Amino acid sequence: MKILFYGTKNYDEQFFEKLLPKYPGIQIKFIEANIHEETAALAKGYDAICAFVNADLGTSVIEVLNQQGVRLILMRCAGYNNVDLTTAHKYGMKILRVPGYSPEAVAEHAMALALTANRHTHKAYIKCRENNFALNGLMGVNFYQKTAGIIGTGKIGQAMAKICRGFGMKVIAFDLFPNKDLDFLEYVSLDELLAQSDLISLHCPLTDETKHIINEDSIAKMKDGVILVNTSRGGLIKTEDLIAGIRDHKFFAIGLDVYEEETDFVYEDMSERILPTSTIQRLLSFPNVTMTSHQGFFTEEALSNIAETTLDNAKAYMNKEELKNEVLS
Ligand code: NAI
Repeated sequence: MKILFYGTKNYDEQFFEKLLPKYPGIQIKFIEANIHEETAALAKGYDAICAFVNADLGTSVIEVLNQQGVRLILMRCAGYNNVDLTTAHKYGMKILRVPGYSPEAVAEHAMALALTANRHTHKAYIKCRENNFALNGLMGVNFYQKTAGIIGTGKIGQAMAKICRGFGMKVIAFDLFPNKDLDFLEYVSLDELLAQSDLISLHCPLTDETKHIINEDSIAKMKDGVILVNTSRGGLIKTEDLIAGIRDHKFFAIGLDVYEEETDFVYEDMSERILPTSTIQRLLSFPNVTMTSHQGFFTEEALSNIAETTLDNAKAYMNKEELKNEVLS
């Protein structure tokens, strides 16, 4: 079975190559180019392609893959909002993903962002390096005894809820499907969560229903001085409304690992380039916004689990076994 890996970085190769000897019959070709209309034709002669969160697997790309005879799309990530499932399924393609590789990796990053945005550790580090030991501009707020609001209590949301509990916070949550096992938190309506939370962390997937769940209306319902963290998907937040909210001094701090318009640059060094969009720069112009570039997943444990599950998925398909991680429409 031949698989073409799109958009690979050295760390992808490192973790997949380490495990590959345990999967006889599977051959991998790694390429740096990501998948889009122009590069999809490179998949000619391959049984499967493997792509990541920043891939474009829209209708036209799926059409090209089908013409090349590709029957399997291996997503080496949890999310699949960038895949046109309807078209892929129309052509009988299977889509397999890695549903959970290390929820704690993402949750720990969410808390790191919350703490960095709150306590300005990124600025304090640079100031100390410059022998500037003044504390101006570095004041934060305690998390202890404050209220954390978790939107989406799946694998990552649960892990974040437990971390917040460990900080001595009261934890409330909103989910379409409350999890009764999480007896340390209280499920409330979305409006109640917005009104009561001092820290709001987004952990629901991007769907038609959740797109722009954070918008002018929901921001107006939040407490003044709230801290907002998004490690889920950029499309959950309507950026223009967020910027308006920041200008209205609604937020104490904001931590973003994901943002709208990230697809064209994420994981690329754009430092020598003039960017065609300005969302990121506008957000970063505010002193209370901290951003990272979709790195919530990026731990050794997570990469190792991603490689193992992706190769297990490929092996199950190759051996016509049950496809536990198939994405259905
Ligand atoms: P999951 O599927 O375990 O949990 C998602 C939860 O959201 C479920 O409990 C579901 O009921 C809930 N949900 C769905 N629609 C909702 C709605 N309209 N309102 C409220 N809750 C809703 O997913 P998991 O593994 O916890 O991942 C969550 C998200 O994190 C993924 O969809 C992905 O976008 C993002 N992610 C980000 C990464 C990063 O590196 N920053 C890495 C991995 C995932």
